[in-house]
Amino acid sequence: MAPEPLGERVSRLGLNPDIEQIIQDCGEVGFLLWRKGWCEGAAGNMSVAIDFPNYHSSSGPAISLTYPVPDLNGQCFLVTASGKRFRDISKRPEQCLGIVRIIDGGLAFVVEWGFLGGSRATSELPAHLAVHQQRLRSGIPIKAILHAHATHLIALSFVQRFRRDPDLLMGLLYRMHTEAYQGLPRGISYIGFRVPGGTELASDAAAALTKSDVALWSHHGVISVGESMDDAMDLMEYGDKAAQLFLMISQRNDSGAYLSEHDLRELKTAYHDAVARRASS
Ligand code: 13P
Ligand code: ZN
Repeated sequence: MAPEPLGERVSRLGLNPDIEQIIQDCGEVGFLLWRKGWCEGAAGNMSVAIDFPNYHSSSGPAISLTYPVPDLNGQCFLVTASGKRFRDISKRPEQCLGIVRIIDGGLAFVVEWGFLGGSRATSELPAHLAVHQQRLRSGIPIKAILHAHATHLIALSFVQRFRRDPDLLMGLLYRMHTEAYQGLPRGISYIGFRVPGGTELASDAAAALTKSDVALWSHHGVISVGESMDDAMDLMEYGDKAAQLFLMISQRNDSGAYLSEHDLRELKTAYHDAVARRASS
């Protein structure tokens, strides 16, 4: 099933072309992720930092934030609605997405656009905003954040030795596939079980995503960041591919065939320039 063509539909939303393009990208990424099985039902959420004129078009109330984000005061984010399907974003962007503006010194937000039909912002808004704020504070701001339930990476969070030693997890993923180092030069962070939507998950995600661009939420899913939703999806794909290979190979008890330390050193040398270019772009 091909995603519904969006051009005409989005141009009717009455938003500026940059935002309409971002909405189109979210719809396409959402559809592709659903096809991968990484956003079953209403799983997953997205946020993108956007420039939005000071419309204050919302007549709605200020909604309190459970996780204060003073550094984001006044900023706007396009975010997915809670309980809505990624695969429906293209068809019903006004229901599946909304634009929120952070107000009251980072203690609340108002809805500037979207969330039609009574929908509301994703339950993982605390994690998304916490990550946006922490990346801004760290001088490495990002525009897009994606959370989805990438199956093979989630499966790895069951493995006891990885839970005890997350560095071991990343070391093994690098040894599964030649592109893992190029795609994930800053690795994947690991966060133990936390209640979804909670402030503990939010603060741990913020800390983890300053060290890396992808974090695995144990027994739950993956969160990744990038300049665009496509970039964030790329990282999840690199990680999940390596995890899938690991799971296939570990069943065959053929671990001696992993890329060796020597192979990895060669890869790092070969990819050094490409990784440096990407880091500075
Ligand atoms: P929302 O529908 O509230 O975004 O929740 C989906 C999810 O994946 C929670 O982690
Ligand atoms: Zn989730």
